[in-house]
Amino acid sequence: MSNDLEELSSKAAAEIEGATDPRVLEQMRVDLLGKKGRVTELLKQLGGMAPEQRKAFGEQVNRVKETLSAALERKAQQLGDAELARKLASETIDVTLPGRGEDVGALHPVTRTIRRIERIFNSMGFESVQGPEIEDDWHNFQALNIPESHPARAMQDTFYALDGSRLLRTHTSPVQIRTMKQRKPPIRIICPGRVYRVDFDRTHSPMFHQVEGLYVAENVGLADLKHDLMRFLSLFFERDAEVLFRPSYFPFVEPGADVHMRWGDRWLELLGCGVVHPNVLSAVGIDPERYTGYAFGMGVERLAMLRYGVDDLRLFFNNDLRFLEQFR
Ligand code: PHE
Repeated sequence: MSNDLEELSSKAAAEIEGATDPRVLEQMRVDLLGKKGRVTELLKQLGGMAPEQRKAFGEQVNRVKETLSAALERKAQQLGDAELARKLASETIDVTLPGRGEDVGALHPVTRTIRRIERIFNSMGFESVQGPEIEDDWHNFQALNIPESHPARAMQDTFYALDGSRLLRTHTSPVQIRTMKQRKPPIRIICPGRVYRVDFDRTHSPMFHQVEGLYVAENVGLADLKHDLMRFLSLFFERDAEVLFRPSYFPFVEPGADVHMRWGDRWLELLGCGVVHPNVLSAVGIDPERYTGYAFGMGVERLAMLRYGVDDLRLFFNNDLRFLEQFR
C-alpha cells in the first residue's frame, strides 16, 4: 500500500475512534466517503492509471474504504447507544415511590349554608331569584319606603359611588322590588346573594351574604310568616326551634319583628321580618287593597356560625385552608 494511502487510513481511523459527538462523526463520514470525500477522490483517479497499477491500487483503496466505513458504523452505533443510555438514566421514573395523593376540594361553608337554606325554602314553594349587586337609590331605598334623608338610612352604612349615582346593595330587598315590578301575585321568592355595608369586626364583614324572602298574594299575613319561619328554622337546625318574635322597626314592613331563637340559655337574634308595608306594594304597582305579603331577611354567615359553631365571622373570608378543610 502506498504511504499516502496508509497514512490517510490510519489517521482517519484514529479520528473516528476518538469521536464523541454524532454530528462530528457524520461530518467525518462526508469528508472521507461522501461524493467529494478524500477516499472517493482517490477512486476517481483509477480511470487514468495503467491496467495492472489500477487493479492493485483499486483493491487497496477499496479495502481502506471498507475498513473506514465499518469503523464509522461501529462508532455511530456506540455513540447512539451511549446517548440512549444517558437519556434513559435521566428520565428514570421510580414507580415504587409512594403517590402524592389528590386533595379533594369542597364547597365553602357559606355556599353550603346558602344551598341548605335554598333547598328548604324551595321545598316550601319559594323560587330562588338573583339580582344586581350594584344598585341605584330607588331600588335599594326609596321603593322600600326609605325616602331620602330618612333616618333609617343610618341603619345601613352604605358604600356609594363617588358621584353618588350608584351604590352597593345593602340588602337583597331590591331583588324583591325588581321581581314585584315584573310579575303579578302570587309571588313567592327567596333572594340569596352578596350584600355590602361599611362594617368590620368579629361579627360583621363589609361583604356578607343574605337570603331574603317575600310572599305576596291575597290574604297573606303574620300567621303565615310565623308558621313558615318556624318551619324553616326547625328544618335548618334539625330540632324543634324555640322561637320568639319581638317587635322591631323596618321601614318596609308593618308590623315588623326580629326573630330570636333559644340557644342554650340565651336568645339569639336570627333575622328580621314583617308584613310588607302598603307603600312598598304601591311603589311597584301592586294594589295594597287586594294583596298583602310578608318579607324576611337573614344573614347567611350568622346562620353558618351557629350551625358550625364558628365564633369569628372573618374566618369565612380569610381562605385559610386549615379552617376550610374542616367542611369537607
Ligand atoms: N332588609 C332587611 C335588612 O337587610 C332585612 C329584612 C327583610 C327585615 C325583610 C324585615 C323584612 O336588614
